[in-house]
Amino acid sequence: MQVENIKPNIGAIVHATREELKDEAVVARCRELLDQRGVLVFPRVGLSDAEQLAFTDALGPRINFTSRVPGGDSSTQDVYTVTLDDNNEPEYVLGTFFWHADGITSDIAPPYATILSARKVAPRGGETEFASTYAAYEALSPEQKAEYADLRVVHTVIAAVREVASPEELDPIRRAFAHEHPLVWTHHNGRKSLLIGYTADYVVGRSKAEGRALLTRLLEFAGRPEFTYQHAWQEGDLVVWDNTGALHRVVPYGADSGRRMHRTSVAGFEEVA
Ligand code: OGA
Ligand code: MN
Repeated sequence: MQVENIKPNIGAIVHATREELKDEAVVARCRELLDQRGVLVFPRVGLSDAEQLAFTDALGPRINFTSRVPGGDSSTQDVYTVTLDDNNEPEYVLGTFFWHADGITSDIAPPYATILSARKVAPRGGETEFASTYAAYEALSPEQKAEYADLRVVHTVIAAVREVASPEELDPIRRAFAHEHPLVWTHHNGRKSLLIGYTADYVVGRSKAEGRALLTRLLEFAGRPEFTYQHAWQEGDLVVWDNTGALHRVVPYGADSGRRMHRTSVAGFEEVA
C-alpha cells in the first residue's frame, strides 16, 4: 500500500486495491492515517455497496443517521445516496453546499468518519472540499486557545440549511434537531480540532451577535487555502474523512447533473455525556 501526502496540512492519497481494503492491517493503517491526515483518497478503487459497508464496519461500527431523510435511490440498507435528482427534500442535500460536519445536530455522538464514493460525477461542479480543523486549531494563538477552551456551541438543522430553506419548509421532527457540543473537540489521540460549520447556531452564554461573529470568523479562518483540499472526483473514487477533524462542502452542481454519491458513516465514540 503506497501513500502520498496531498498538502502539508491535509490529505493523503492511498493506493490500495479492493482486496487490500479487506485486510485488517491495511484498515488499521488507514485509521492511523485518518488521525494524521484528516482525509484519505482512494483513487478509482471502485467498491460495491457491500464492499463499502464492509470497509465502513472494519473502521468502526457503522451508523445510519439519515434513515429518516427521504430522497436518494440507494436500496442498500445503511448506504445513503447523495443526489439532487428526484429528491423529496432537496434542502437537506443543498445544505451540503456549505461547510459542515455530518450528524452533529442529533442526539448521537458525532460520527467518527464519513465514507463517500463517486458513482456518477457531475459534468460541472461537484468537487468536494475539505478543511482541516485540526490545522486551523493548531494555528490559533495561545490566547485564542485559552479563550475558546470551555466554550460550547449549539448545532441545529435550522442553522445547517439556513441558506437554502426556511424553518417552515422542514419536517417538524428534524426542524427541532439541536445538539450542544464543545467548540474545541478533543480526539481519542489527544489532538484537538474545532467543531464548527453551518450547523453551528450560537455560542452558549454569549449574545447571538457576539457568538455568531466568532463562529463566522473561525469558519472563515478554517477555510484558508493552507488548511483545505478540493477533491475532483472520478467515478469509483472513495474518500474517507475524519468527521470531527475536517469540515466538508461540495462545489454546487445541477439537479440535472446526474451526480450520485454513496455515503456511509462510522459511529463516533469520543463524546463524554
Ligand atoms: C454529505 C455531503 C458532500 C458531497 O453527504 O454529507 O456532505 O460531495 N456530501 O456530496
Ligand atoms: Mn456532509
